[in-house]
Amino acid sequence: MRNQIIAPSILSANFAQLGIDIEMINKSEADWFHVDVMDGVFVPNISFGFPVLKALKKLTSKTIDVHLMIVQPERYIIDFKDAGADILSVHYEASVHLHRTICAIKEAGMKAGVAINPHTPIELLKDVIADIDLVCMMSVNPGFGGQKFIENTYNKCSDLKNLIIQKNSNCLIEIDGGVNEITAPKLLDAGANVLVAGNYVFSSSNPTATIASLKAL
Ligand code: DX5
Ligand code: ZN
Repeated sequence: MRNQIIAPSILSANFAQLGIDIEMINKSEADWFHVDVMDGVFVPNISFGFPVLKALKKLTSKTIDVHLMIVQPERYIIDFKDAGADILSVHYEASVHLHRTICAIKEAGMKAGVAINPHTPIELLKDVIADIDLVCMMSVNPGFGGQKFIENTYNKCSDLKNLIIQKNSNCLIEIDGGVNEITAPKLLDAGANVLVAGNYVFSSSNPTATIASLKAL
């Protein structure tokens, strides 16, 4: 039993009936809500921000996993805590003083994650891996749901797993982008702990069953 964590991404939810989709996830076997915040600068898309996060927080007691795709994420750490984030991930590529930002996230009372783009080598995490709770490994270029999975992610995931063991870290490996019934088992074999799934869950005819199938792998 691998005990993977399943984190549906509300980016692919139906925003015209977000409360219904949140309730579906609440009642499902999903463990976390994955919340994608995009600023139109770090990534070529704008998603949503604090009002949506606050509304979600009121409707769920599940862990809220916030993935910031914004420049200078250190500006908003306290605001995300106040809005309900339990885990806050910033992008390596958007953080000049990454170590300081990680410390500030933890001091604010959240778990700290670092997200890396597909082109960013995992070796760059070696001096922070023992300080963080999660690596959000992008398996697509960030910005949109429903994109094609990048195959190199499997090897990258194994390399990250080795780094985590080598550094005696408790950090979880989260895979974000293109997770489905084909990629998920291979990712779990490569050491992934958390599977984010947007399009695969919300475009399914039975999202609750799709979540359960990911949990049962
Ligand atoms: C992409 C986001 C993902 C996205 C995943 O920038 O970070 O969380 O929602 O979507 P799917 O599962 O549809 O690839
Ligand atoms: Zn994400």
